Amino acid sequence: MSYDTTALKRQAAERAVEFVRSGMIVGLGHGSTAVWAVRKLAEALRAGRLENILGVPCSKEIEAEARSLSIPLTTLDDNPVVDLTIDGADEVAPNLDVIKGGGGALLREKIVAQASRREIIVVDETKLSRALGTLFAVPVEAVAFGLATHVRYLESLGAQVTVRHTGSGEPFRSNQGNAILDCAFGPIADPIGLAAAIKRHAGIVEHGLFLGLASDVIVAGPGGIRHLSREGNHA
Ligand code: A5P
Repeated sequence: MSYDTTALKRQAAERAVEFVRSGMIVGLGHGSTAVWAVRKLAEALRAGRLENILGVPCSKEIEAEARSLSIPLTTLDDNPVVDLTIDGADEVAPNLDVIKGGGGALLREKIVAQASRREIIVVDETKLSRALGTLFAVPVEAVAFGLATHVRYLESLGAQVTVRHTGSGEPFRSNQGNAILDCAFGPIADPIGLAAAIKRHAGIVEHGLFLGLASDVIVAGPGGIRHLSREGNHA
């Protein structure tokens, strides 16, 4: 069956905005799903349904979007605790562990997620899988210096590694100026062990395995919206 994933992404993101309250510090995630939450947040601020919100953008791109919509922004230096973050994901496991970084913003996204009291992940249901790594390669952010050695190290862990490039063929660089290595492992039996192993190599800055960070996942599918949370699932 073919889905209108754009509509589903929008539905999931807009549902998450219902959890935002006036006065909150809100993490603004990166990507084609999370951007709908930013737009909905701006709409609620304009309509006066929400007030005194400060956003913490997870990327330069989403910062520009939020500024263009007049969402007041802050930084983690001024507000190191974020009340609620709404962000997308590339793959979601049944225990709410996720892979992120398809958009190359995983480092800032993980910093914001770790600073958040509540991390709401918003996805369309094509992102659900039984085991992380089944649908998506794990993006790994690494410094450009010694890149071939990082690739060799990740291959030694069992990955098929692709150095990410832009559409015009230039090496992709994250907002921090780092490279992204897309690491296809196949279904990952031990995500915690793999995450620790990836971080053991100098030059690897962060990886897209977000383990134990999502408090909630909002999933939109043709049959409706589901809210999964660590406290139990809601209709
Ligand atoms: C950005 O680096 C990612 O973590 C995104 O949140 C993730 O790739 C999901 O992106 P889409 O919402 O565009 O599918």
